[in-house]
Amino acid sequence: MENKKIFRYEKDYYTKMLEKALGDFWTYSSVNYVDDRAGFETLEPREKHMFKATLGYQSLMDTDVTGGYFDLAKLVDSKTLKNLYIAIGHQEMIHFNSYSYGIDQVFGSNANEIFDWIESQQDIFDRMIVENRDEELALKEPTKENVIKHIINTFLLEQIKFPLSFYVTFKINDNNSGAINGFTQALKEIAHDELTTHVPTNAYVLKNEFKEYRDYIELKLKERINEIIKEEIKWMKFLFKEGEVSYLNEKMYTYMLKYFINKALELVGFKEEYEDINKIEVLWFNEYRRINNTVVSQQETDSVAYSVNVIRNINDLDKEIKNG
Ligand SMILES: [Fe+2]
Ligand SMILES: [Fe+2]
Repeated sequence: MENKKIFRYEKDYYTKMLEKALGDFWTYSSVNYVDDRAGFETLEPREKHMFKATLGYQSLMDTDVTGGYFDLAKLVDSKTLKNLYIAIGHQEMIHFNSYSYGIDQVFGSNANEIFDWIESQQDIFDRMIVENRDEELALKEPTKENVIKHIINTFLLEQIKFPLSFYVTFKINDNNSGAINGFTQALKEIAHDELTTHVPTNAYVLKNEFKEYRDYIELKLKERINEIIKEEIKWMKFLFKEGEVSYLNEKMYTYMLKYFINKALELVGFKEEYEDINKIEVLWFNEYRRINNTVVSQQETDSVAYSVNVIRNINDLDKEIKNG
């Protein structure tokens, strides 16, 4: 008889996170994108470009991240962490479908033009090179060092580059009377998944699963942050190539970049790097990204945010997870 082991339930940090993630379940088809069609047309050409660039990057990157999490589930030892990575991979699948579904809803018969445009932008692919390269390496040679590098990349992607993308869309929406409220609503759900489940999970993994690799983690984390700074400086050139706007420009984007770097370092237990942070902008972002904070019609509120929050209130695991 084959000696098979049954998975034994264990309520550790990863299981608590898993149960929180399951309680946060939402799906893309319940987001109402219909009004974004007329709203998008009211944006200035430079705002349209920023929005399309951001959306394109996120759709392509979240597609890759989905596979990245399923790979991580194979690469780690802890059974409860494997469970959690599979659940996160499932959330990533919802994310990339929500971008694709949104584009289809908003652009209708012109959706293919948008997809083709995204696929033809070298700048978007350039912003994704390192994450893809290191994931392939971790799969080919699954040493602890390579797995750590893959986790660091995923962690920094979700703690720095994704929030910067959310920031861009939120700013455009807020300064155009909710012109892209549908996409904004979906992004708030996505930001919630990223910042309350994916990011803390990988921070916890980096702090607790590889204790004997602490110096290596610090080195690789800081090396990758330095690369990200260069990648983001290059990305800003593309993002603002049609021009900046008063409420969103290189200066403000850089403030937010520094803030997200500080937060990444703090989450893994290292000293923050920057002091010159625009606190008002940070407060605005953290307030705006809250799920119930967009002015939406009652119908929209009922469809996503409300129902999701009911589930959340029942579970209310955030506090418990924070306290370990
Ligand atoms: Fe995602
Ligand atoms: Fe994620």
